[in-house]
Amino acid sequence: MATRKKVQAKSKVKARPQASAKKVVNVRSQKFAEKANGNGLPQPSTKPWGQAGKALDGVKILDFTHVQSGPTCTQLLAYMGADCIKVERPGVGDITRGQLRDVKGADSLYFTMLNGNKRSITIDSKNPKGKDILNRLIKHCDVLVENFAPGALDRMGLTWEHIHKINPRMIVASVKGFGPGPYEDCKVYENVAQCAGGAASTTGFREGPPLVTGAQIGDSGTGLHLAFGIVSALYQRIRTGRGQKVLCSMQDGVLNLARVKLRDQQRLAHGPLSEYSQHGEGVPFGKAVPRAGNDSGGGQPGWILKCKGWETDPDAYTYFITQAPVWGPICDLIGKPEWKTDADYATPNARLPRLKHIFNTIEAWTMTKTKFEVMDICNQHDIPVGPILSMKEIAEEESLRKTGTVVEVDHPGRGKYLTVGNPVKMSDSITDVQRSPLLGEHTEEILTKVLGYSAKEYAEIKSSGAITPPEKPAKAEAA
Ligand code: COA
Repeated sequence: MATRKKVQAKSKVKARPQASAKKVVNVRSQKFAEKANGNGLPQPSTKPWGQAGKALDGVKILDFTHVQSGPTCTQLLAYMGADCIKVERPGVGDITRGQLRDVKGADSLYFTMLNGNKRSITIDSKNPKGKDILNRLIKHCDVLVENFAPGALDRMGLTWEHIHKINPRMIVASVKGFGPGPYEDCKVYENVAQCAGGAASTTGFREGPPLVTGAQIGDSGTGLHLAFGIVSALYQRIRTGRGQKVLCSMQDGVLNLARVKLRDQQRLAHGPLSEYSQHGEGVPFGKAVPRAGNDSGGGQPGWILKCKGWETDPDAYTYFITQAPVWGPICDLIGKPEWKTDADYATPNARLPRLKHIFNTIEAWTMTKTKFEVMDICNQHDIPVGPILSMKEIAEEESLRKTGTVVEVDHPGRGKYLTVGNPVKMSDSITDVQRSPLLGEHTEEILTKVLGYSAKEYAEIKSSGAITPPEKPAKAEAA
């Protein structure tokens, strides 16, 4: 232990290239801390949990993201306390500000729900003064996050070599559609990734075409992966003192989420997939993993069943899992106690060819109850079920408001709106959700207070066109 401590302390000193008085002071204060604590670790905070700042306090993000994948990543980092400086093109901004607009003239929900807790600065990255500002931001920040089309960052002159020369500690994190290979130059959106990552071919019903899912596993899913990569790189930097490139392709991100289907692809070589209802129905398997409808992905058969009111309410359904350990209580509930001992129904294997009939029989029972009644009754017997919740029900759900998962924020342009708060709850890093910034809302503040430009320099920058829209502003594309 003592040896490891020494190595860590040594590498920390070695990693910083600038040999300065500051370094000597750092080494001294570290030695002092080691002596004082006995274990070399910083003193624990004396403040109560949740009052000693946030997990990523002090981390500075140069947020060059747009649309959904990148902004998802940086919003999560901002929720964790990082200072996210979002760079946007003057006069236009992130294209989503104007997409799917519901309130005339106001930033769209598409934008506001993905850019909370950030600051916005407008910079024309192709203007010479704009380039100077970006260089200063690169020196100032810890992480640059971007999800431009392949090559766009290089075309701005912000190559890895350039960035790393200015700031060797900078982590450069990118989302691209594909990793290196035949498609690396392609532009990619959500559904392209769902298709290329194996999700679409395995989603939907056997008789129908491939299906994309409403959950944005390509965009938001990849942003999530990237955030994990960034935090890992920040942790590694503590030891190495160096930044690194972090790349997450949307195809890889989707495949990671669809990994059970790659599992099934390999199982196919050893025989049919017995838990797929197609097997019970006697339909032979092809060469690739088929679409499994609403079959459960695990070893316990499940299906979506109608509940009371299904005729008029499109969401009056429940997911029902016939988990083996609770087969007895299921039989009792649905009025088929004889199935507990009937050889055709008593064991999971015997049930496989009869799943359709079994689920039809269970459905005859669920149709007499609301989805919430089914939930209440089944939970008393540990039978796993899930009501199909509509977005309306989720938006109105009290418990989600209480936990800060669904949050109402006020916005000067659009009034109150709902957003999704931090889905990760931490006892010592409490998320405080703030509204998204207006375009360029923090330009002056960042230039003068963060980067230290004088009032005169700020005026010069303003007249140079580096932070203001061109004479004839480019029109935001409203989709
Ligand atoms: N100042 C000046 N120019 C700027 C700028 C700024 N602040 N911000 C962006 N630009 C420029 C870029 O440099 C680029 O110019 P170039 O093509 O001359 O190099 C241009 O704006 C367009 O950027 P691009 O990323 O190509 O946007 P797009 O609208 O054409 O494509 C995507 C959008 C999402 C398809 C593409 O960015 C992409 O494939 N990204 C990676 C995958 C991804 O994240 N997809 C999911 C999106 S949710």
